Amino acid sequence: MSNLHPHNYHITKIEKEKQFGHSSLVVWLTGLSGSGKSTIADHLEQHLFKKGIHTANLDGDLLRTGLNKDLGFSEEDRSENIRRIAEISKILSNNGLVVIAAFVSPFSKDRNLVKKTVGEENFIEIFVQTSIEECERRDVKGLYSKARKGELKNFTGIDSPYENPINPDLIIDTEKTSIEDSVQLLCTLVLSKIQFKK
Ligand code: ADX
Repeated sequence: MSNLHPHNYHITKIEKEKQFGHSSLVVWLTGLSGSGKSTIADHLEQHLFKKGIHTANLDGDLLRTGLNKDLGFSEEDRSENIRRIAEISKILSNNGLVVIAAFVSPFSKDRNLVKKTVGEENFIEIFVQTSIEECERRDVKGLYSKARKGELKNFTGIDSPYENPINPDLIIDTEKTSIEDSVQLLCTLVLSKIQFKK
């Protein structure tokens, strides 16, 4: 470690935020597989994009087919998955972007690590709350059916735990709230957390 000397870049986060016209933020969506995280993230990004906000999108299927393809779904691998994403989120937000990250992230300790890594003031936690019954009914990717047949081990909600967030900034109940209303709520929250700099 002592042989590493990070360079002090001249263009700082503050200058990037000024040029973009807004401050950065990490919007963390957690919930079961199939709860609707990526759909909500996608709609949120479209709303923000229309307002000229610079975003970056990260999600489980994307990261796990590339950077994190060496990781599986044991508790240790999930923690390492989230640790790496926390570091990526920190780099992207330090570059002035609004990061929208959608990961099952079933363990409180891992979500807390993200908060600590990116900075509490830079982080909002969104719980996409959809019951296991509803996720299983939707089964968009056919994974619940595989997990029930025993073809997929350590599946969150079936034979691997999900710890509900204790004090999230927003709970989106996708069984009671439409996608439009959910995104509207989330967008309002995100815009209230961003400072506009132009
Ligand atoms: S996390 O638990 O480490 O945060 P992540 O969000 O990256 O998970 O990846 C979850 C995605 O991987 C799910 O949406 C699903 O498509 C797929 N997946 C494959 N196997 C599993 C499993 N055992 N548990 C949960 N998701 C799985």
